[in-house]
Formats: sequence, structure tokens, C-alpha cells
Amino acid sequence: MMKTIAFTNQKGGVGKTTSTINVGAGLCREGKKVLLVDLDPQANLTYSLRKSSNRLETSIYDVMKGRIEPEETLISHNGFDILPSSIDLSGAEMEFANEPARENILKNKLAPFYDKYDYILIDCPPNLGLLTLNAFTAVKEVFIVLQAEYLALHGLSKLMEVIQVVKERLNPDIEISGIICTLFDGRKNLNKEVVDHIQDYFGEKVFDTLIRDNVALAEAPSHHKTIFEYDPNSHGAKDYAALSREIRNGQV
Ligand SMILES: Nc1ncnc2c1ncn2[C@@H]1O[C@H](COP(=O)(O)OP(=O)(O)OP(=O)(O)O)[C@@H](O)[C@H]1O
Ligand SMILES: [Mg+2]
Repeated sequence: MMKTIAFTNQKGGVGKTTSTINVGAGLCREGKKVLLVDLDPQANLTYSLRKSSNRLETSIYDVMKGRIEPEETLISHNGFDILPSSIDLSGAEMEFANEPARENILKNKLAPFYDKYDYILIDCPPNLGLLTLNAFTAVKEVFIVLQAEYLALHGLSKLMEVIQVVKERLNPDIEISGIICTLFDGRKNLNKEVVDHIQDYFGEKVFDTLIRDNVALAEAPSHHKTIFEYDPNSHGAKDYAALSREIRNGQV
């Protein structure tokens, strides 16, 4: 069955983009057909996999504006597809503000893809604005990405509140179905305490696989590679392979 998942947290720098890319690549290695949607005007996902010197002519912005069809701007990367973003998207909040059904734009644009992929993974920007609402309207599942550091749970009640409002008003199917803990350092007691705390809060929704702090994960984007292409023997590759298996097996 096709799955649509938004990777989210309004907090910046917690590993949303790294997780979207490497879970996508991991699922692709398991033989799944995967589309990654870059919904962040920072376009980090896009340029982590593609050289920025090759400036893109079009992006998801043009798709959401109705200028082109989504197929026209797809990029493929070693077995999976990317719907790229661009800085143009940064004006979207204002530009779409007066459109009717402005929260449904992405969902409508992705509709032709729903029977072409096994997984559509959306990388959300670090805020709870209109683009994130578009992601929440387009998906059935949300994965919250948390950094195993102090204040990891800070601001989460706001995120949960927004998801609840989306469920009531825009998308009754939406569920928080997974919690990904990243940047885990087992040598730090604090990290373990934070993960315990996250598990107390979310119970079995927390994936068993903890993504360790691993420098190869931070290096791979500058080589425009997934972790499996950049360093297949790294902890990062092992962790994202294990997490992808857990997701495929529908542990939660
Ligand atoms: N497990 C990890 N180990 C080491 N570095 C990591 C790990 N995960 C992510 N990073 C690095 O941390 C930084 C933030 O990660 P990432 O861009 O994935 O976060 P994000 O939540 O998408 O950020 P933003 O909110 O700005 O979109 C990046 O430089 C990334 O390479
Ligand atoms: Mg990001």
C-alpha cells in the first residue's frame, strides 16, 4: 500500500532533511519506489543530492503556482525521484495566503503520483506555516524528528496541537505514526535520559533504531550523495538501513 509521510519538527537542525533523504534511499535499497518532496524553501534536500551550480529551471514552486505539471520538474537520483525546491518558495506563504483551499494545493498537485510510488516522503521546513500545513494535508502519516538533546520536547505541544487541528478541519486521516531520534550519542548520559523521556511521552511510536551522531552523515551532502553512496560502512548507513527496515515492516 502506498504511504505518504511528512518528516517534521518546527525546530531547526534536528535531522529532518538527513532523515528524509536516507530513509528514502534506504527504502529504495529495499526495492521500493520512492519520491522525495522538498517542501523547504532552503532547498537543503535538493542541493544535498544535486550540485547547486546546476541551477534548476523549475521547482515545486512552479508546480504549486500551476505553471507546470509535477512530472516536468522531477529529478531522479540513483533509483528514486525528487520533487525539488527552490528559494522562490520562500514567498509562498504570502502568495498563497488569499487562495481558496490554500492548504490543499500540494495534495492536489501530488494526486497523479499517488499510484506511482510506494512511498512519498515530504521534507518539511522548520516552521508551522502554510507549507507545513500543505504537507500535513497531503499525507496520512507524520514522523516527528527529534534530536536527543536537552529541550527536545520543547515546543512539541504546539506541533501536536497543529496536527490535531489539521485532523479536525483538513485531513481526518492524519496520524503521528513514528518518532525518529537523531544525533544520539550513547556516551552522554543526558542523551539516554532524553530518549527515555521521549519514550515515556510517545511510547511505542518511537522507532527502536536510534540514529547516532555520525560525521559521515554531515559530510555526505557536500558530495551530493546519500549515506549509502558516501560511506556504506558508517554508523549512519547502518542506522538508516535499520530504520528503513523498521519503517518497511510497519513496526508502529
Ligand atoms: N546523525 C547525525 N550525525 C551528525 N550530523 C548530523 C546527523 N543528522 C544530521 N546531521 C547534520 O546536522 C545538520 C542539521 O541536519 P538537517 O539539515 O538534516 O536538519 P533539519 O531538521 O532538516 O534542519 P532544518 O530545520 O534547517 O531544515 C546538518 O548539517 C546535518 O548534516
Ligand atoms: Mg531541513
